[in-house]
Amino acid sequence: MAEIKLRIFRFDPENPKPVPHYQTYTIETNPGMTVLGALFDVLDNQDGTLSFRYSCRWAICGSCAVSLNGKCRLACETQVSDYKGTLTIEPLPGFDVIKDLVVDIEPFFENYMKIKPYLMSQASPEKENIQMQEQVNLMQPHVRCILCAVCESSCPVSWTSREKYVGPMAFTKVYRFNRDSRDSGGKERLAIVGDESGVWRCRTIFRCTEYCPKDIPITEAIEFLKRRYFRD
Ligand code: SF4
Ligand code: FES
Repeated sequence: MAEIKLRIFRFDPENPKPVPHYQTYTIETNPGMTVLGALFDVLDNQDGTLSFRYSCRWAICGSCAVSLNGKCRLACETQVSDYKGTLTIEPLPGFDVIKDLVVDIEPFFENYMKIKPYLMSQASPEKENIQMQEQVNLMQPHVRCILCAVCESSCPVSWTSREKYVGPMAFTKVYRFNRDSRDSGGKERLAIVGDESGVWRCRTIFRCTEYCPKDIPITEAIEFLKRRYFRD
């Protein structure tokens, strides 16, 4: 079995003198081991104080995102065998650290709520809203977003102006609702993302698109929203 060194960011606010630092653990890997599996190996066999988030272990819940050698990825779908030697595991950049790899994700969800992430319709429909496949296709692949925060955490504009920038995930959601034939909140949401905290702050760096684990073309959606803002 191959060995790998995990260099993990540690921070414990309950320590009387909390100092952020790195701690290195050597583990034996096995075929198919994910980074989340490696973190559990450390937790179960070497250090029961290590904190990290996870839930589904299946790339669905979005809660296990961390920085791996400087790139944000889902720990539960990333193979340890993708790395050799030492793997540095850090919390998502741009968010306050609560403990070790756990960050305060609240500002991310505050941005999410700003764009009213639910179907808006004029009146209760008398019967179910049927969508044809072509209409569903318009929302693809943006419906795949799992709210993992990788895009926001990879974006330098978000790092430097979180309060002033709605952010790439929210734009993805606006695009998704804007393209939904059942929704009538298009103009209202465009006004939200069209102001000074919206799409115009994007510097087209493409890191959101590059790292999104669901391969959502976020930058493309942002450009679409810019055009729609002027058209509508
Ligand atoms: S758009 Fe992609 S990277 Fe951003 S929150 Fe959704 S799934 Fe995660
Ligand atoms: S544990 Fe749910 S996405 Fe990784």
